[in-house]
Amino acid sequence: MQRLVGKSALITGAARGLGAAIARRFVDEGATVIINDLNLDAAQATAEDLGGHGVAADVSDPDSVANMFAQVREIAPNLDILVNNAGISGMEGRNDVAQRVEQMVERAHKAATGELTDEDYDDATVQTTNDEWRRMLGVHVDGTFYCAREALKIMNAQKHGAILNMSSIIGTFGRGGGTAYAAAKAAILGFTRSLAHEVVSRNIRVNAIAPGWIETDMTAPLGPMQSLIASQVPMNRFGEPDDIAWAAVYLCSDEAKYMTGQVISPNGGWYMSQ
Ligand SMILES: NC(=O)c1ccc[n+]([C@@H]2O[C@H](COP(=O)([O-])OP(=O)(O)OC[C@H]3O[C@@H](n4cnc5c(N)ncnc54)[C@H](O)[C@@H]3O)[C@@H](O)[C@H]2O)c1
Repeated sequence: MQRLVGKSALITGAARGLGAAIARRFVDEGATVIINDLNLDAAQATAEDLGGHGVAADVSDPDSVANMFAQVREIAPNLDILVNNAGISGMEGRNDVAQRVEQMVERAHKAATGELTDEDYDDATVQTTNDEWRRMLGVHVDGTFYCAREALKIMNAQKHGAILNMSSIIGTFGRGGGTAYAAAKAAILGFTRSLAHEVVSRNIRVNAIAPGWIETDMTAPLGPMQSLIASQVPMNRFGEPDDIAWAAVYLCSDEAKYMTGQVISPNGGWYMSQ
């Protein structure tokens, strides 16, 4: 089907992973896509592969976002869709990831065999620096706000549009060791619902996806934890990027014209219902 014919879409953090999968499905459905990422070469490489346009911006920087939207307005003066997908896990660039994963695996085994003691804990929050906390909220929460604000300057005037924000099951379900990520993803859900109210009269819909565990570069560092996590998912496996891309196609198409302020959670049954 061609659900997005004639539509233009900006997808942030789309050089790879879920953003790239969403962009690919959008193109298949007839949309013109603008691929954002931090690195222009990476954004352009994906854009060339898909037949779209590549733009660089750090979504956590309001000036960078404003500059990007100047380019977006030239490519797509009537932007129809914004997908706020750019995100970080907090593991990027850390040299203790393997060690932390090893500790997670050890704790999981101890929990399974009843050997967990009050000496087995993950002090992730105490060890989180101000910069790490700010960066996490900066990319996810500030980035979602800055991009939505710029997109609405276009969408409010044209009185139509769809904004899709990427949350996570961690934003609703929580998970030890990830308080900054959980806080950021929960904030995105509150932002989504409130903005949906604000712009509904202008025919702009605002929704969110809260993915479960999906196989991308973001989850790859989990290594041996992946199979332990997968064993807790009722479907017994991680999802594929396309599982999220299809939800995005639906929420951004006219098929979802009665959907606003909603969260769809493709998660293999990890977290059932809202
Ligand atoms: N993979 C999962 O299991 C999973 C689950 C739930 C939610 N999510 C969310 O989905 C989104 C995409 O995740 P993914 O798995 O594809 O991750 P990924 O790491 O594969 O891709 C994220 C992309 O965002 C880009 N990016 C990071 N910071 C940016 C910034 N400040 N400005 C612009 N671009 C930036 C990265 O360069 C990268 O290309 C994220 O918001 C993530 O939190 C992922």
